[in-house]
Amino acid sequence: MNDGKKKEVEHFLDLVSGVQVPIIVVFGNHDYDADDVDGIKEMLLGNPSIKVLDGEYAEYELNGKKVGIGGAKGYGGGFAPHRIVSRGERATKSFVEEEDREVEKLKTALYQMENAAPDFKITLTHWAAFEETIEGEPKELYVILGSSRLGDAIEQVNPHLALSGHAHHGPRGIKKARGTVSACNIAYKVNEGKMSLFDFFSDGSVVLRHLESH
Ligand SMILES: [Fe+2]
Repeated sequence: MNDGKKKEVEHFLDLVSGVQVPIIVVFGNHDYDADDVDGIKEMLLGNPSIKVLDGEYAEYELNGKKVGIGGAKGYGGGFAPHRIVSRGERATKSFVEEEDREVEKLKTALYQMENAAPDFKITLTHWAAFEETIEGEPKELYVILGSSRLGDAIEQVNPHLALSGHAHHGPRGIKKARGTVSACNIAYKVNEGKMSLFDFFSDGSVVLRHLESH
């Protein structure tokens, strides 16, 4: 969403009112613009098909397979070794404290996913977890585009697919992050407004398709 105001949430709910499949969301930074993320969550949960992952895990059965999704909003901080560190001014420390909170939330969700051991594991963050999904953005912005600490947590659980958004000028398609994790930037602008669809295969591979929007 764009400004965290109720009108936008209502518009989103209208758009998805006829959708018959489960809808899993994480908050984005703009959901915090109006300082009422709890209000947004309450509105979203008025639709029983919607699950908000704020450090939580959700699981669905699809074609006899368990599909699990662990997610959290995430935050910035940059990518090792070029990371912001919690020193000096209070504002800098506050920045890293938000990163700490989001990393912990994500770890909680991923811990649940590990225990549940679904057939397919998906991670979902709004902020980027891997540099490979934001390449093309100015390097100066990396610190406010994502955090390698999110990637550290995700790498540990070896997901089939790691989804993120936020970086509107990142690359399209599935990237092999850190040489092992299939990671994909699904930001609306990156995909030119086309819906990203993923096919999961029993050998563990994942293929991306795009649907034309109407
Ligand atoms: Fe964003």
